[in-house]
Amino acid sequence: MDAFLDGDLDDEFEPDDDEPDDEDADDGTRSLDTLGFDHGDRRRPADDAEAQTLLRDGVLDLEGRLLDASNVTLIGAIRTDELAGECVYKPVAGERPLWDFPDGTLAGREISAYLVSEATGWRVVPPTVLRDGPFGHGMVQLWQNGDPEVELTRFVKADVPELRRMAVFDAVVNNADRKGGHMIPMADGHVYGVDHGICFSADPKLRTLLWRWAGKPLTEEAVEVLTRLQEQLMGDLGEQLHEHLTRREVRRTQQRVADLLRTGRHPEPSGDWPALPWPPF
Ligand SMILES: Nc1ncnc2c1ncn2[C@@H]1O[C@H](COP(=O)(O)OP(=O)(O)O)[C@@H](O)[C@H]1O
Ligand SMILES: [Mg+2]
Repeated sequence: MDAFLDGDLDDEFEPDDDEPDDEDADDGTRSLDTLGFDHGDRRRPADDAEAQTLLRDGVLDLEGRLLDASNVTLIGAIRTDELAGECVYKPVAGERPLWDFPDGTLAGREISAYLVSEATGWRVVPPTVLRDGPFGHGMVQLWQNGDPEVELTRFVKADVPELRRMAVFDAVVNNADRKGGHMIPMADGHVYGVDHGICFSADPKLRTLLWRWAGKPLTEEAVEVLTRLQEQLMGDLGEQLHEHLTRREVRRTQQRVADLLRTGRHPEPSGDWPALPWPPF
C-alpha cells in the first residue's frame, strides 16, 4: 500500500466538526495501515445489503486525504450505531476539471461503474453510494484492505479469472484508467477495482494494464454474463444509468456489450501500441 495520508487537510476542505487526528503522524505522513480506526463495539457489514445501509446512513468521520490521488479523495471512518468500516469519500466539489470529461460528472461515473459491476455479479467495484458528506454531494465507497503480500507489478500480469473478468468489465465501462493501483487483490483471491471516475466516455478510451487476453475468445462465463447484461441495459439498469450518464454514453455502453458478443473476443488495442495508463502504477 503506497497511499499516504496527510494529517492536515487543505483549509478549503477542513471539516468543521472534527479536527484531523494526527497523534501518530510524526513526519506529516502516515500509511493507511497505521491509522488504526477505533470502531468500538460496532461490527463490519456482513454482506452487501449491510454495506449499503452503512454507506447510506453512516456518519462520516474524515481522517485524511490520499496524497497520491489526483482528485480530492478523502478517507475516514463511517459508522452507524451497529456497523462500521472505512471508506473513501470523493466530493464532487473536489473533482479536478478534465479536458475530455464534463465537469462534475466523475462521482456519477463511479456509481455507474458500481451499478454495472453489480449487474454482472462479478463484484468488481466495492459497495458505492452517492450521498451528502462534509463537503457536499459525492461518492462514498467502502475501503477494502488489500493483501499486503501481493506484489502488484507481478500480479497485474497474472492469468487469473478475477483479472480476466475485470478486463471484460473494463471493456464494457470503457475504463480509461486501469492502472496497478486501481486493482486491490484481497487475501481470499477476490480482486476489487477502484477509481472509475473516467469511465463511460462515448469515445473509445480503454487504457489498461490488462491486455494479456487481447484478441482471445471470451470465456463461456463472460458470454453468459454479457448476454444478461445486454438485456439489463435495455431495461432497469439502462434507466438507472441515465440518471448519471448522457443518453449517448448509455447507448455506447450497450454498443460495447453488443460488439463484445458479436466478436466473442476480448478487445484489442486500436493503435499499434497497447493503450496503457500513465503512470502505470
Ligand atoms: N475502496 C477502496 N479500497 C481500497 N483502496 C482504495 C479504495 N479507493 C481508492 N483506494 C486507494 O486509494 C488510491 C487513490 O484513490 P483513487 O480512487 O485512485 O483516487 P483518484 O480518483 O483521486 O485517483 C487508489 O489508487 C487505491 O490505492
Ligand atoms: Mg486514482
